[in-house]
Amino acid sequence: MTDRSSIAIRISSAEIAARIEELAHDIQAAMAEDTLMVPILTGSFVFAADLVRALARAGADWPLDFMTLSSYGAGTQSSGKIDIVRDLREPVSGRSVLVIDDILDTGRTLLFARNLLRERGARDVKICALLDKPARRTVDLAADFVGFAVTDEFLVGYGLDKAGRYRGLPYIGAIES
Ligand code: IMP
Ligand code: MG
Repeated sequence: MTDRSSIAIRISSAEIAARIEELAHDIQAAMAEDTLMVPILTGSFVFAADLVRALARAGADWPLDFMTLSSYGAGTQSSGKIDIVRDLREPVSGRSVLVIDDILDTGRTLLFARNLLRERGARDVKICALLDKPARRTVDLAADFVGFAVTDEFLVGYGLDKAGRYRGLPYIGAIES
């Protein structure tokens, strides 16, 4: 396979690391002792791994459980329909929940997650997204904690993929063809 595309760095690994320390302090100060952290797989796994360690440094040692939601399939266009591919094992009733995701794009995925957790009786649901693309929003949803606001271009790296690739890049970049 010939691939002539290159990646233009938009957010460096040093910028990401510095911002995550700030986020962790804000989250630790704002959230309750009984918080359950819920990273939304797959895109959030790199961010979540760094965020939980920053939270530990900030004094928050909270349990974690993953939920896998899918909306994109293999393409770059959201299908609009959200599927629960892997559900939580932890009960959320009465608890404070921090939903962690890579990017808040149209907002459908995180709106679905927040509604689901509220229906299951979570006491408080807050959303932390590393990236926020407000220009793309189709539903009324704002994250409680945002790493970086970004413009409307397709981004890869640091967990974000295009058709399954680029997740392992240490920075966030845009594909230039
Ligand atoms: P939403 O439901 O449209 O907000 O989309 C959420 C999901 O779409 C994210 O968790 C990502 O997995 C994926 N996504 C949205 N924008 C991008 C992007 O620019 N690059 C890679 N994945 C993206
Ligand atoms: Mg995702």
